[in-house]
Amino acid sequence: MCGIVGYIGERQAVPILLNGLKRLEYRGYDSAGVAVLHNGVISVKRRAGKLRILIEDIEQEPLPGTVGIGHTRWATHGEPIDRNAHPHVNPVRTIAVVHNGIVENFLPLREELESEGVRFQSDTDTEVIVHLIDRFVAAGRPLVEATREALRILKGSNAIVVLSALEPDKLITARLGNAGGIVIGFGEDGEMFVASDLPAILEHTRRVAFLEPGQMAVVTRNGARIFTLEGEEVPVQVTTVPWDISAAEKGAYKHFMLKEIHEQPRALMDTIAGRVDVRTGEIAFSTLPLSKDFARRLKKIHMTACGTAYHTTLVGKVLIERLARIPVETMIASEFRYADPIIDEDMVVLAVSQSGETADTLAAMHEGKHRGATLWAIVNVIGSQAMRMADGYISMQVGPEISVASTKAYTAPLVDLYMLAILLADLRGRLTPQQRKELVGHLQYLPGWVEQVLAREEEVYRVARKYMRMKNALYLGRGINMATAYEGALKLKEISYIHAEGYPAGEMKHGPIALLDEDMPVIAVVPQDPWYEKMISQVEQAKSRGAPVIAVATEGDERIAEVADEVFWIPEVPWMLTPVVAIVPLQLFAYYIAAELGLDVDQPRNLAKSVTVE
Ligand code: AGP
Repeated sequence: MCGIVGYIGERQAVPILLNGLKRLEYRGYDSAGVAVLHNGVISVKRRAGKLRILIEDIEQEPLPGTVGIGHTRWATHGEPIDRNAHPHVNPVRTIAVVHNGIVENFLPLREELESEGVRFQSDTDTEVIVHLIDRFVAAGRPLVEATREALRILKGSNAIVVLSALEPDKLITARLGNAGGIVIGFGEDGEMFVASDLPAILEHTRRVAFLEPGQMAVVTRNGARIFTLEGEEVPVQVTTVPWDISAAEKGAYKHFMLKEIHEQPRALMDTIAGRVDVRTGEIAFSTLPLSKDFARRLKKIHMTACGTAYHTTLVGKVLIERLARIPVETMIASEFRYADPIIDEDMVVLAVSQSGETADTLAAMHEGKHRGATLWAIVNVIGSQAMRMADGYISMQVGPEISVASTKAYTAPLVDLYMLAILLADLRGRLTPQQRKELVGHLQYLPGWVEQVLAREEEVYRVARKYMRMKNALYLGRGINMATAYEGALKLKEISYIHAEGYPAGEMKHGPIALLDEDMPVIAVVPQDPWYEKMISQVEQAKSRGAPVIAVATEGDERIAEVADEVFWIPEVPWMLTPVVAIVPLQLFAYYIAAELGLDVDQPRNLAKSVTVE
């Protein structure tokens, strides 16, 4: 959940580190710090609060040096105050460490170190790593070996970068388990980069190598060597990533979230491109090879994910079951591995994850693999752990998503799942060529339909202004758009801190109806889909209890216009694609409420973009 960046080269390190941290601030933002080596001395600056506090501090008192490490923190051990911010150093300041993850055996290690006379300067688990490395360095081990020895003692998933004044020509980095990735960037002219995420280094290089769990690397100005934790050297595989830095910049938009909402037509085009042939209706995913035999043998798909990504699986279930007639079970990833799921080798575990690094999702994938299932993943971040662990994957192709609140990484996988459902149905002989062509044909209009919703942004803004002071909201949906209600409510609560519940509309009468009065707006997702009639009657029930109703409905729907107080209109689209279009006004609604309340839209409190702890 924390952001890490490291630099070694000929340029001044601090501006590069701070720029990298700015691009990673979405990962953690309760404190930040840098450590730089100059003339054999490590200087450290760490500040609680937003990155700009650290930047202002460094402007007053610059730190020279051409090798350094930086960190943005999302606190797990120890409150977010200066002394708990990273980097952490040993007492004589010859070793500095930045860390992402949790040292699970930190308490016994701390006790052991304290009994040896070590005095801790922070409340973090990270500090034990520094002292352990220090212990082995003091015993005469070179830095790489000392780090390896220290890592062998740690339990849990951890990623680190180490800087030492004793060996100033290198950075050591390592990855244990799935606590976020480590990417090594190969620059020009004797400079190298290390980061937890690509956006931190994309402005310098697109030539990168990813560390696998259980690997460490020695990074010098001239390159990197990668080793296992047992010390065996492994070949360095350098790949060129297709993203460029403009994709990770806000441009004219006030917030990344608004930019990313507006990027959806483009993102949908990109996720469709190269996968479908609208003339023939053929679909193929180059990274998810799928035979007729396997598709026909497939007994069940277990879909698993967290948060917004989990909501995509609810839509995926409807699509795959309706089209391909394969039973689908969806399970929140944090529950998956404890549920003793019934899985065998004729089943697929399909994980959805923007980051591809979410600890719970990766653990669910491990569970699926362990039980013999084929692993599929729908992921966005290139080179992520989920992408590499899966037997086959579909990349979302939406570019970097920076805002903590996920938007384009919600709608793109809905389309990926739509295409996957058609492909499976086709391979199982459940579609005529004409039906297939028709279903695929709709995709070419989808970006345009989303554009039409975005063109009504002003209207959403007006309604958001009207309701921005509400304290609660109930989002209702049914069938394929139940997930739209869940996702709309999640968007509102995570960025505006307004309590919002997403509920299956048919369940309202079994409890939540008691909440309804004029202070409980109901946001009803009522597009033209097979559940329309049922939804209308629920909207009428809510209205008759005095609740204001905001509906998401299909243009020309006079019945809803009569009963609802406000309507976010969407164009008429085939019902299986309604979730892609109907969520867009709800994303804008949540965005404008949070923005008008003056909240930190892109970095809401207590959250982080990739949740790499359990
Ligand atoms: C979405 O707005 C949230 N930030 C969150 O629910 C997110 O979708 C979830 O943590 C899963 O992340 P992933 O897609 O990277 O696995």
